[in-house]
Amino acid sequence: MPFIIAIDGPAASGKGTIAHALAEHYGFHHLDTGLLYRATGAKGGDPVEAARTLAPADLERDGLRSSEAGQIASRIAIIPEVRSALVEFQRRFAVQEPGAVLDGRDIGTVICPDAPVKLYVIASNEVRAQRRAAELGADPAQMLSELRERDRRDRERDTAPMRPADDALIIDTSNISIDEAIAAAISIVDHRR
Ligand code: C5P
Repeated sequence: MPFIIAIDGPAASGKGTIAHALAEHYGFHHLDTGLLYRATGAKGGDPVEAARTLAPADLERDGLRSSEAGQIASRIAIIPEVRSALVEFQRRFAVQEPGAVLDGRDIGTVICPDAPVKLYVIASNEVRAQRRAAELGADPAQMLSELRERDRRDRERDTAPMRPADDALIIDTSNISIDEAIAAAISIVDHRR
């Protein structure tokens, strides 16, 4: 059976970096599921139709990493039909041999509720805003208010809200280096394999 690592958490918590590093370490496939929502939002038009017809080329579109694309993604991500249109692709991705790492908001709760490893990565609002500002060359105060708005939308939506699964382990990256966070994640996975 392929091994699944589910990683959730808010924007700029470090979950993407940890997911990438785990996939490299174990030779697993990696899916950044936020990209599916960003690409769906960026297509424009009816978001449900956009999600149903999402193609690999849509994931290559310029500007998907921008703060604006993230905001649009979180607005269309509240629509239940958008989410359900993207479920099957994610579940199929997850069962590839020898294993897969998926990161997002609802991987441990909805997409892969039986994953043997579930991590929920957090960091303080200030640290996340600083990181995002450095990444995008933007103003930290502006990033802080955008992250807060997006977190609120992600947490408060009715369908698949952002939250740790009951059996998720929390990694707080506020005061540790990225190497320490990756080492912690690897030791958790090694214990479960
Ligand atoms: O992770 P990223 O910041 O790229 O995600 C963009 C947005 O996509 C999130 O703010 C969230 O609204 C949505 N998303 C989601 N479920 C996921 C991944 C992302 O709702 N599994």
